[in-house]
Amino acid sequence: MDVLEAIMTRQMVPGVKQDPIPRDTIERLLEAAVRAPNHYLNQPWRFIVISGKAREELGAIFEASLREQMKDEPDEKKVEGQAMGERTKMLRAPVVIAVGVKQDPDDKRIPAFENVAATAAATQNLLLAAHGLGLGAYWRSGNNVFDPKVKEWLGLAPEDELISFVYLGYPDADGEQRPRRDRESIDDKTRWLGFDS
Ligand SMILES: Cc1cc2nc3c(=O)[nH]c(=O)nc-3n(C[C@H](O)[C@H](O)[C@H](O)COP(=O)(O)O)c2cc1C
Repeated sequence: MDVLEAIMTRQMVPGVKQDPIPRDTIERLLEAAVRAPNHYLNQPWRFIVISGKAREELGAIFEASLREQMKDEPDEKKVEGQAMGERTKMLRAPVVIAVGVKQDPDDKRIPAFENVAATAAATQNLLLAAHGLGLGAYWRSGNNVFDPKVKEWLGLAPEDELISFVYLGYPDADGEQRPRRDRESIDDKTRWLGFDS
C-alpha cells in the first residue's frame, strides 16, 4: 500500500478481535511512530503497551477514579453502569498503546505544544502503519488522560501529558462497524497566497 492510499483509506476501527498481536508487529508500529518529525530530535513520545491482565489493572484505576468523581451521585444504577464501562473499556482490544508526551519545563528551546505536536504526528504514523499491516486502530482519549493516578500508573511524570489510548487489534468483520467519516472541503480550510486565481 503506498503512502497516499494508506492515508486516504485509514479509518478508525472500533470492532476488533481479541486475537493477540505478535510483539514484533507492535515493534514495527512503534518504529514507524518514532520516525515522526520532532524539534531538536528530543523525541518526546513515550509508549506504554498494555495487554492481557494489565488492561484490567488500568481499568480498575479508571473505575476507582470514576467512583470518586461520582461519590455524591444518588443514582446507584447510574454509578454502577458507568463504573462497569470504566472497568471494561480497555478490554475492547487485545492491545492498547497509551501515548504520553515527555515534557521538560527546563528545556527552554522547545515550547510544550511542540512536544504534543510531535507526539501526535508519531501517533498518526502508528495508525497508518497499523492500517498498512492490516490492523484496526482507534485513537481515543477521554477524561482518563487527565487523571494523575492514571499517569502515575503509566509511569508518566505529573508534568507529562497523555494524549491517546490507541486501541489495536485485527478487524472483526462481525464486530461494530462505523461508516467512513467524510471531511469538509479543503476549500473551506485553505487560503492560497501568491497563486494565480
Ligand atoms: C486527540 C484525539 C482524541 C480523540 N479521542 C476520541 C475519543 O475519546 N473517542 C472517540 O470516539 N474518538 C476520539 N477521537 C477521534 C477518532 O479517533 C477518529 O479519528 C474520528 O472519529 C474520525 O474518524 P476517522 O479517524 O475514521 O476518520 C480522537 C481523536 C484525536 C485526534
